[in-house]
Amino acid sequence: MIIAGNWKMFRGPDPHALAGLDAIVAPPFTRLRDCVDAGLTTYAQNVHWEADGAYTGEISAPMLLELGVTGSLVGHSERRLYFGETDETVALRTRAALDAGLRVIACVGETLAEREANETEDVLRRQLSVLEPHPHLVLAYEPVWAIGTGLTATPEMAQDAHAFIKSLLDAPVLYGGSVKPDNAAGLLAQPDVDGALVGGASLDVDSFKAICQTAARIRS
Ligand code: 13P
Repeated sequence: MIIAGNWKMFRGPDPHALAGLDAIVAPPFTRLRDCVDAGLTTYAQNVHWEADGAYTGEISAPMLLELGVTGSLVGHSERRLYFGETDETVALRTRAALDAGLRVIACVGETLAEREANETEDVLRRQLSVLEPHPHLVLAYEPVWAIGTGLTATPEMAQDAHAFIKSLLDAPVLYGGSVKPDNAAGLLAQPDVDGALVGGASLDVDSFKAICQTAARIRS
C-alpha cells in the first residue's frame, strides 16, 4: 500500500512533523530539500525529459537525484489541463525519469464530460497507450471531476477503473480525488486499489497521518 501526498503549489506542513511516516510526499520544488533532510521519501511534482538545456521553468531527473529526491509525479491532470501536458510529453517525462533512476507516479483519469459521455475507458486506454510497465512505475487513477471538488469516486467506481487500468498495464494503481480520513478505508479496501494520492488532506498533518494509519490497518 502506497500513500502519497501531493502538496501542489502549497507550502505544506513542517516536514519534521511527518518524520517516520511510511508515505511519499511531493512538495513544491522549494521544499524538496527540507523534505529530503527530514528523511521523507520525497517526489517532485514534475520532471523534464532532458538532462539539461534551455527549458525555462523545468527541472531534470539528474538535478532531482542530486538533491536526494526519489521520484516524480508525471502527467497530473492539472499539468494536462493548465500547462499543455500531452500524452506524448507524459511518455517522454516518464521514460527519461525511469531511465535516470527516479521512480514515477504517472497520473491518468477522465473529466466529468468524458465520464458522462461514456468515454472513461477510451480516455484511459489512450493515456496508458504511451506507457510501458517498469518496476519503478506506479499509476494514479485520478478522475478529474473528483479532484479538489469534495466529490469522490465510490469504492466500486474506483475498483472498476483500477481493474480496467491493470488489464492494460501491469502496475500498482493509486486512487486520487478527494481522499479524506473518512473515505479512505472504503477506497483502500478495494482489491485493485493499491494506495492513494492525496491532495488537500495531505496538507494537514493529522489528516494525512490518519490516512496512512488506515492504509497500514488494511494492509496488516
Ligand atoms: P484532492 O485530494 O485535493 O482532491 O487532490 C487530489 C489530487 O489531485 C492528488 O494528486
